Amino acid sequence: MIYEINGGRPLRGECRVQGSKNSALPILACTLLCGGETVIRNCPVLSDVEATLRILRHLGCRVKREGHIVTVDSTAVTSDEIPDVLMREMRSSVIFLGAILARNGSATLSTPGGCEIGLRPIDLHLDAMRRLGAQVREEFGRIVCEAPNGLTGANISLSFPSVGATENIMIAAACAKGVTRIANAAREPEISDLADFLNSCGARIAGAGEGSVTVEGVPRLHPTEHTVIPDRIVAATYMAAAAVTGGAIRLRSIIPAHLGPEIAVLEEAGCRIESDCRNLRLTAPKRLSGVKMIRTMPYPGFPTDIQAPFAAMLTAAEGTSVIIETIFENRYKYIGELVRFGARIRVDGRMAVIDGVEKLYGANVVMPDLRGGAALMIAGLAAEGTTRISGVRHIDRGYETPEQVLSGLSADVKRIEEDGKTDPEQQSEPHRRQGEPLAR
Ligand code: UD1
Repeated sequence: MIYEINGGRPLRGECRVQGSKNSALPILACTLLCGGETVIRNCPVLSDVEATLRILRHLGCRVKREGHIVTVDSTAVTSDEIPDVLMREMRSSVIFLGAILARNGSATLSTPGGCEIGLRPIDLHLDAMRRLGAQVREEFGRIVCEAPNGLTGANISLSFPSVGATENIMIAAACAKGVTRIANAAREPEISDLADFLNSCGARIAGAGEGSVTVEGVPRLHPTEHTVIPDRIVAATYMAAAAVTGGAIRLRSIIPAHLGPEIAVLEEAGCRIESDCRNLRLTAPKRLSGVKMIRTMPYPGFPTDIQAPFAAMLTAAEGTSVIIETIFENRYKYIGELVRFGARIRVDGRMAVIDGVEKLYGANVVMPDLRGGAALMIAGLAAEGTTRISGVRHIDRGYETPEQVLSGLSADVKRIEEDGKTDPEQQSEPHRRQGEPLAR
C-alpha cells in the first residue's frame, strides 16, 4: 500500500482524536496483574496495539476487541516468556517485563535490540528490576529475570526520566512488599494515566506526573474498567498539518493541557489557538513564520515524538527555524526525504536548521519510521502536486486510519495499492478494520 496525496488544500473542519498509543501499551501489559476481566475503552486500532494483544494471548490471556473496547481476561496466565518473533514486532514490548515478573515470579524476554530511531538500551529497566530484588541474567540474546520470593519495594533514582523504565517500575512495584520511591521519574501524561489505571485496580500510587512517585505495594490487584487518554502526539500532528496548509480545524476529545509546548510553538509561528478543557480550535495564517528554536525535552518540554511533524511544518514557513533533538540519537532520517519536496534543511549532529521555502512540490518518498512518516504526510499535504509515500506500515503503528481523518478535513489523501487501485473495503488490511472511523 502507498499514500497518494494531492496537496495544497487548506485543512478545514473537525475531527475526534484517537486514544493514546503510549498509554494503551503499558495499561494493556498491566492487565496481566488484574487476574480477571478488565475492560479498556478508547483503545486505538494500531499495529503496535495488535502486537501487544498477540503477546497477551501468547501469555494465556483471553482477549476480545469490539471497536475501540478491548477486554482482557488474565485469569489463567500460562507463560512467563515472550518469544523472539513477538518481541521483534514491537520494541516497546519491554514494557511487559515488570508485569510478567510480578505475576509469575519470573520473566524471559529476548533482547529488544535497536530500532529505527536509535539504540534504545534497557539498562534502566534492568537495574530497576534488580533494585526490586530480581536476579537478572542476560544470555544468548535473552534476558532472564527471576524473583521466586516476590519483589520488594526500594528507593530507585533514575539517571534519566525514562518513560518506559518509570512505567515498568510502577507496574512491578504495585504488588511488591513494602514501599517503592522513584526519584527523577518521567512526568509524561501517560505516566499519570497508568497510575490512574493501577489505582483503579487497587494499587496505591501517589505523585505520578510530578517527578517523584511513591508506590505502596498491595497484596493483589483486581479487574477494572478504564478509558485511555487522548493521544497528544496525534493531536499535535493534525495541528501541524492544518497549520502548514493555512487551514482552520477543531479537534475534539483532546486534553489541550497536554499540548503546552506545541501550542507555544504554533502561536510563535503565527497560528491562533482557542481551547477549553476538551476541545481546541486552530486557525493558521496564510503563511507560517519560522520559530527561533525547538529543543526536545522530557515532559513538560517539547516532545521528541512531535519533532519530525513540526520540522515538516516549518519547511514552508517564512524564515529560519532551528531544532535540537536531545532524546534520541537517530531521529533525523526523514530529512533526506523532506529535501525531495524542495525543503532546505541542514543537519549537524543533533541540530537541524530549516530555511523555509515558499513552496514545496509533490514527491515520491519512503517513510523511514513512525513520526518521520507523519512528517512526510504533512509535507505532502502542503506540497503543490501529487505525493506518493511508501513504507506505510510505519504509520500504522501510531495513527489510526489517517487517510479517513484527513479526508474528513477536506484533504485529498488516498491509501491505495502500489499499482494505483483503491482498496475501499481494506480487504488486504483486516487489522485496520476493527475500529469506528474517527473523522466524525
Ligand atoms: C517512550 C515513548 C516514545 C517516546 C519516548 C520519549 C512509548 C511506547 N514510547 O519511549 O514514543 O519517544 O518515550 O518521550 O511510550 N534510555 C536508556 N536506557 C533505558 C531506557 C531509556 O538509555 O533503559 C534512553 C533512550 O535510549 C532514550 C531516552 O532514554 O535516549 C528516552 O527513552 P525513554 O523515555 O525510555 O523512551 P521509551 O519509554 O522507550
